[in-house]
Amino acid sequence: MSITLLGIESSCDDTSAAIIRDGVLLSTVIAGQDVHRQYGGVVPELASRAHQQNIVPVVKVAMDQAGVKSAEISAVAFTRGPGLLGSLLVGTSFAKGFALATSIPLVEVHHLKAHILAHFIRQEGVEMTYPQFPFLCLVVSGGHTQLVVVRDYLDMQIIGQTIDDAAGEAFDKCAKVLGLPYPGGPVIDKLAKTGDAHAFSFSKPQIPGLDFSFSGLKTSFLYLLRDRMAVDNRFKEERLADLAASLQNTIIEILIEKTVNAAKQTGISQIAIAGGVAANSGLREALTAEARQRNWTLHLPQIRFTTDNAAMIAIAGYYLFQAGIFSSHDIEPMARMEF
Ligand code: KG4
Ligand code: ZN
Repeated sequence: MSITLLGIESSCDDTSAAIIRDGVLLSTVIAGQDVHRQYGGVVPELASRAHQQNIVPVVKVAMDQAGVKSAEISAVAFTRGPGLLGSLLVGTSFAKGFALATSIPLVEVHHLKAHILAHFIRQEGVEMTYPQFPFLCLVVSGGHTQLVVVRDYLDMQIIGQTIDDAAGEAFDKCAKVLGLPYPGGPVIDKLAKTGDAHAFSFSKPQIPGLDFSFSGLKTSFLYLLRDRMAVDNRFKEERLADLAASLQNTIIEILIEKTVNAAKQTGISQIAIAGGVAANSGLREALTAEARQRNWTLHLPQIRFTTDNAAMIAIAGYYLFQAGIFSSHDIEPMARMEF
């Protein structure tokens, strides 16, 4: 009998639903929230309200596109955390209500583990090579930066992580200082293509082991801008592309250095990336070059599965379902959630 999962993602500012049957994606729908743009970042209360408006239509469209009726769904998987509490509450409440109304199991999913498992989403007519266990995954999102050893679908271990800001946060905060819209990552990525990556140098962290730090880079970027603007107030607009390219290059160098060290330390040469920053074209190119030189087998996720989406929640739910791991209706969402 086939297993059909409805996945729900609402941890930040995207309301998403997806249907996966036996590991194959049938539909995925995402409603973004433009309301945050004018504030230069996600406003939690507005995000929660927008999720409430979006959740029912998004699920309906996902089911219609998949041609799946409620009675055919085996379980509902949802993001329990980490994320914004008010946002998570909407997805969690919807998932509980749906599961209760249709008498199907509830499967809670860890958002970051789902980013990693996005590598295993199968699509009709799309040839893919999947990571072999164990593999090393660099998880780079708006809120997290981690190096994870993935031994199996449900067996993962963090071996390095940021001690302050996340890589996505570094992109977003520096972009904000440049007066660019939120989220800054994709805008910097685009601007960087026409800039000189070595025009400016920023301080790089000296953190031992496999941990990361990005707060010093943010400060160094801010000071450079302040000092150069003091002598030339057109500096920012004239050197925008160079600033973007140099910033992006520094972030990439920090990420790659630790990934290389992690690969050496663990002896793992199957390397993957996941999370919103995994969409960054510079990071993808740099990792591809590194992989060639170091004989790694590199797994880059499809761009649409890098940023937040429910397909990754549904695939994670599929593996949990198969393992018989379900959630009780008493559970609550968690802004912080143990990995
Ligand atoms: O995984 P994600 O969608 O949400 C979280 O779980 O945080 O990641 C969002 C982050 C944001 O910081 C955004 O700026 C960044 O991913 N991002 C990018 C790119 N696309 C999204 N950063 C750099 N280059 C991109 N192309
Ligand atoms: Zn995410």
